[in-house]
Amino acid sequence: MPASVVLGAQWGDEGKGKAIDQLAADSTWAVRFQGGNNAGHTIVLGDTTLKLHQIPSGVTSPNCNLILGDGMVIDPWVLEEELDRWYALTKERPEGERLFISERASVILPFHRLYDSADKVVGTTGRGIGPAYRDRIERVGIRFVDIPYFLDDEAKVKETISRMNKQLDSVGVSERVEKEDLVSHLRWILERYGGAIRQTGRMIHRALEEGENVLLEGAQGAMLDIDQGTYPFVTSSVTSRANATHGAGIHPGHVENCFGISKAYTTRVGNGPFPTELPYEEGPGNHMAMVGHEFGTTTGRPRRTGWMDMVSLSDSHRVNGYTGIVLTKLDVLGGLDELMLCTGYELDGQTVDYMPTSCEELARCKPVYERHPGFPALSEEEWIAMAELSRSEGQGYEVLPEEALSYVRRIEQLSGIPIVSIGVGPDRRASIASRGGPFDTEPEVTTF
Ligand code: IMP
Repeated sequence: MPASVVLGAQWGDEGKGKAIDQLAADSTWAVRFQGGNNAGHTIVLGDTTLKLHQIPSGVTSPNCNLILGDGMVIDPWVLEEELDRWYALTKERPEGERLFISERASVILPFHRLYDSADKVVGTTGRGIGPAYRDRIERVGIRFVDIPYFLDDEAKVKETISRMNKQLDSVGVSERVEKEDLVSHLRWILERYGGAIRQTGRMIHRALEEGENVLLEGAQGAMLDIDQGTYPFVTSSVTSRANATHGAGIHPGHVENCFGISKAYTTRVGNGPFPTELPYEEGPGNHMAMVGHEFGTTTGRPRRTGWMDMVSLSDSHRVNGYTGIVLTKLDVLGGLDELMLCTGYELDGQTVDYMPTSCEELARCKPVYERHPGFPALSEEEWIAMAELSRSEGQGYEVLPEEALSYVRRIEQLSGIPIVSIGVGPDRRASIASRGGPFDTEPEVTTF
């Protein structure tokens, strides 16, 4: 396994963390290649639950090096909070030891957060992600490597402050960026992280040349990709496989596996069309939200819920070429009488099998459903026992309730992608691997 990519196959929050956790045990590098602290994953260590936003999920494997890669935008203050929480729990300070920040990554400054707070359209996470990427594209942003040069250039500092304040004015934000603040913030970043800022692409390249396993950890999801997602209701980076290597600073030939993580249903946070969306307050939509605890890790906002959408999965596969799907949260559907799979859309009287590019058209799409019988609700312990039985007897998915198995098999058939692992609960043990597949290993993970 040279490099493996793990991506969200939907609109984010698919439960990538658990799959990454399993794969990280065999990897010596876990790399974030895009996005910033708009992402969020929850790590459970003993009785403690830790929310991380920028530190790669591989942090729980002590032998795994952690890279915040070239393609990222990084909020150094949020990173400090994450590192402090990690230290409080484990007494480990990984920065400069096994956690490295790319010289090429862009710095998210308080200005970017202020500018993002003016968003009224997309429903962003408000973390300054879009404005930081905007600066990068306009070639006025500050990368970690640029900080000392920037601080030495009086004229540039002045020009930057003037630009930032004009931009804040233009979106009606009254706060101002002051020179002393900007300078002291940048100095602090150098002092705090100087020892961890590296040419990380070269480090990953060298590791691959030496035969080490590298995990490229996606954030957000395929439908939030700036180019291939439901624009403009998307994030500001390329979330796709093509950027996994590019944003890490290595070439695409290293990638052997690309796992798409998909819930057994669909969720979305923020605005934008969502064809299979269900009413949130009642019925199956409410069941998914409540049983699945569908609240954003980063913002705490309730996630919108809906049926599994095979049209969006097929578009997401076209772009990313998944070698396997990890289907998460199947257990959440237990207790529903009937399950629906969206196999096409009806758009202005025509059936289509793709997502229209225009959000106006996508909003007019009515899902065409295939009905499947539901399966009973089981307790967490019952799902874990089922997963353990599958492992101990090498039974693969045969342990699943009949209706659940036929639902899963139909997803495989419609998508043409093998489902390599099925999540049936938050616990590490609550995963069922396909027999002989890449996840068919003991779930023993060395952790803190
Ligand atoms: P931004 O990435 O903060 O600019 O937000 C753009 C859109 O992407 C909004 O609809 C957010 O809710 C959504 N988004 C960003 N990050 C995530 C994520 O990690 N999970 C789910 N949605 C996200």
